[in-house]
Amino acid sequence: MEKSNDQSRMDRIVSLAKRRGFIFQSSEIYGGLNGFWDYGPLGVALKRNLKDAWWHDMVAGHDELAAPAGAPEAYEMAGLDCTIIMHPQVWKCSGHFDLFHDWMIDCRESKRRYRYDHLSGRFALHRGKRVFVVTDASGDEAQPALTAKAQKFFGLRAKQIEEIEWDGGLTGLSAAVAAGATTLAEVLGPDASEPGTLTDPREFNLMFETRIGALAGDDDDRAFLRPETAQGIFMNFKNVLDTSRVRVPFGIAQIGKSFRNEITPRNFTFRSREFEQMEIEFFCKPGDSAAWYRYWRDRRWKWYLDLGLTEGKLQLREHDKDELSHYSVGTADIEYAFPFLAPGEFGELEGIAHRGDFDLRSHMEGKLVRQDGALVLEMGPDGKPRHKGSGKDLSYFDDITRERYVPHVIEPSAGADRAVLAFLCDAYHEDEVPDEDGKPRSRTVLKLHPRLAPLKAAILPLVKKDGMPEVAIDLYRALKRHMPCMYDEKGSVGRRYARQDEAGTPWCLTVDGQTLTDQTVTLRDRDSLVQTRVPIAEVVDLLTDRL
Ligand code: GAP
Repeated sequence: MEKSNDQSRMDRIVSLAKRRGFIFQSSEIYGGLNGFWDYGPLGVALKRNLKDAWWHDMVAGHDELAAPAGAPEAYEMAGLDCTIIMHPQVWKCSGHFDLFHDWMIDCRESKRRYRYDHLSGRFALHRGKRVFVVTDASGDEAQPALTAKAQKFFGLRAKQIEEIEWDGGLTGLSAAVAAGATTLAEVLGPDASEPGTLTDPREFNLMFETRIGALAGDDDDRAFLRPETAQGIFMNFKNVLDTSRVRVPFGIAQIGKSFRNEITPRNFTFRSREFEQMEIEFFCKPGDSAAWYRYWRDRRWKWYLDLGLTEGKLQLREHDKDELSHYSVGTADIEYAFPFLAPGEFGELEGIAHRGDFDLRSHMEGKLVRQDGALVLEMGPDGKPRHKGSGKDLSYFDDITRERYVPHVIEPSAGADRAVLAFLCDAYHEDEVPDEDGKPRSRTVLKLHPRLAPLKAAILPLVKKDGMPEVAIDLYRALKRHMPCMYDEKGSVGRRYARQDEAGTPWCLTVDGQTLTDQTVTLRDRDSLVQTRVPIAEVVDLLTDRL
């Protein structure tokens, strides 16, 4: 099947990520583990820089004395680091135990498993035979996949493809079945040779389960790896309030691992089973929550732009009413046009949700459900609460206005791995630069924002003699105290520039013959390729300023 331009670009990004030590498949020497990824030397630096930028901009560097642009008033931010395994009741009251599932479907013939909502298909007809052909490919890869399947099923040669008649457009399988347009008996699965091999769809909870303790066995020992970091924040709402003198409005931020047993992890790190989230739960007065929602939505959008993501590849999408989570009053997604998606399609980078008082109330009262527009305690068949809350008072008392209320929550929830992937894809460029002899040479360059770049500078002696390495090493040691940088004397200077371009290093400093006479070095800018001479004594201040 021919690959779209963007898909082959994605393949080149994945290949660079592996070749240059950004991202490796987990346990690769044993064949890898689907949905799990490791970050190599450059990748770990990139991801750490991204998380540090988020933590600095949202928490550590936040000025709590002044209202930032667009904010209704000044506010405080606090940090937190909670455990991955929490009391199982957390997930029962939050709704994850009952509701955090996807529908999966199995193929009896190929033994493959698919997400029901990822399958789509069309009716194909040939000489009186009619079959609903299904694929798990999406975007512009879907129709070629359907054609190849139908050709094989009808036993046609390539030149007979035109004889296949297609009835109706591409439709989601679940929608087609629900509408009665087809039944699973006449569906030809993505990897099946005959129709009717797909099982009925089944619910599959995405939480990874584990057992606590050496004698684990009965149901009381069942625990879950957290599928989001958010709940740890709600667990500690009262602790933070009681110990840090914060006042509503304030936010609690956390960066940490989350785990989801995704049925079909795919698209490199985009949908992984183990990933990191950067989440804020922002607690505010109910009457002010709509204004705070707008503030966080716009603030988070701007954050991606400030770090250099191309605005034209980003989209801010407000959810339709029927798309909202069971708890949400309003949600907007910040989405990016990842190259593995079809033109016009976007993938979620971050969700900003107005969660009302759902979370704090759930952990006080028990699992809530929406009934006639209101959140009420869900009752079990025995007339008791289906999942009992903690019974602890998580309301807030404002000692200035003398009001007591359950704060509303605005939640900007970002994925660190998805953000790294978006920044990698956005930074990836192929262009031509003149080589040492002035001839055009194609290069691959990662135009990462200097704050995100794994290395900020490389120090290169033009040749390995005439005292140049000594000067370069001194400069490397002086700069290394201020920022990550590397010393490289191997190969031609052109090859060394190329290596740094691929790693996303914004500046190269070359020590050459002139350095020995006038104490200046060449500063090469990765993106503009402009080379300027800078006194060695000014390099540290200059690059620190630029950072
Ligand atoms: N607390 C709300 C929450 O977890 P979510 O939309 O399910 O909301 C938030 O997840 C973010 O976490 C997503 O926007 C995405 O960036 C990231 N994320 C979610 N599932 C992921 C997965 N399987 N692999 C990588 N990142 C994921």
